[in-house]
Amino acid sequence: MQYEKEETIQIYNGWEEFYGIEAGDKLEYFSRKGRLFDIIYAQQFDRGFLVYICNLANQIRILAQTKLGAQKLSSLLAHKRAMLYFVQPSTRTFISFLNACHILGMRVSEIRGTSTSSEVKGESQEDTIRTFASYVDLIIIRHPEEGFAEKAAWVLNQTDRPVPVINGGSGPDQHPTQALLDIYTLERSFENIGGVDGKSIAMVGDLKRGRTVRSLSYLMKNYQGVTLYFVSPEVFRMKDDIKSFLTKHSIEFKETDDFASVMPVVDAIYMTRIQKEYSAAPAEEVDVYPDFHFTKAHLSAIQSHCIIMHPLPRRYEIDVAVDKDPRAVYWHQERNGMWMRAALIAHLFGVEDVINAEFN
Ligand code: CP
Repeated sequence: MQYEKEETIQIYNGWEEFYGIEAGDKLEYFSRKGRLFDIIYAQQFDRGFLVYICNLANQIRILAQTKLGAQKLSSLLAHKRAMLYFVQPSTRTFISFLNACHILGMRVSEIRGTSTSSEVKGESQEDTIRTFASYVDLIIIRHPEEGFAEKAAWVLNQTDRPVPVINGGSGPDQHPTQALLDIYTLERSFENIGGVDGKSIAMVGDLKRGRTVRSLSYLMKNYQGVTLYFVSPEVFRMKDDIKSFLTKHSIEFKETDDFASVMPVVDAIYMTRIQKEYSAAPAEEVDVYPDFHFTKAHLSAIQSHCIIMHPLPRRYEIDVAVDKDPRAVYWHQERNGMWMRAALIAHLFGVEDVINAEFN
């Protein structure tokens, strides 16, 4: 018979204090010898890193197209193992990380719900993570709790077997690797028109609980002359912490609920789903807002170079009739995630020089 014990709560002195420190003031804690070690926040990525990691993703994408290139890639980390601990539902983050590991030759273990781990017997979350570290060299986490991936990294970094932790989405807070693949998609799309600098980007939908738009907003501090348009119903406006960050870094942003007025003036439209899973009363919450949907009729209102993005999954935010338009890049965006995540893992294990050497 299936039973579930109450989780054992363990006291880790110092965690609450550490968690309370501004992300920007504790980034060193997640680095080693000047390199990223754990990937927890989008604030960890500066302009130099973004240029470098997009280039590495390009190289991996090109190498993977040939049998010889794919063989070279798959020999790079054949001696390493990864754990995918995904206890919040995911399709593309899970599959793209799994395939990114395979591209680099890593072997992968997975747990996709607490009901199939010893957490069902009451084992604490922290002991669960320490146990993974006994067997693998990298832990990738998708978790419903804000701050969980950070705590996992913080706990492991105090043990004699710290292994890198990648945040694959932590509650409504952050999704840093999604932000990387979003930047990669923007850079690829705007390759011939100056990249991300100087562009206007509309983020549309549930900006309050959408972790992808939060992480992407943080990355905008790395670009010159960007303007963000936050387009949402009143109840889902972007939170103040992001707006304060943008103000502090002199990044222009505008808030509106008038989607139609924004469409013709932006270079990219980033659609998002209403994140009802975080609602305190989901049965009572409206989750369809037609004024914030993108339909086939809107294609004539946007600029010829304006791209339409979505982190996916979608519900009704974008009509399937839009999919065939070349400006709809969300299926490419999804695939870009695999190349970007492979690049990130290659960086964490320091094998980028072997990849670069193939292009010299
Ligand atoms: N974009 C994204 O995180 O999708 P999944 O929830 O399917 O992983």
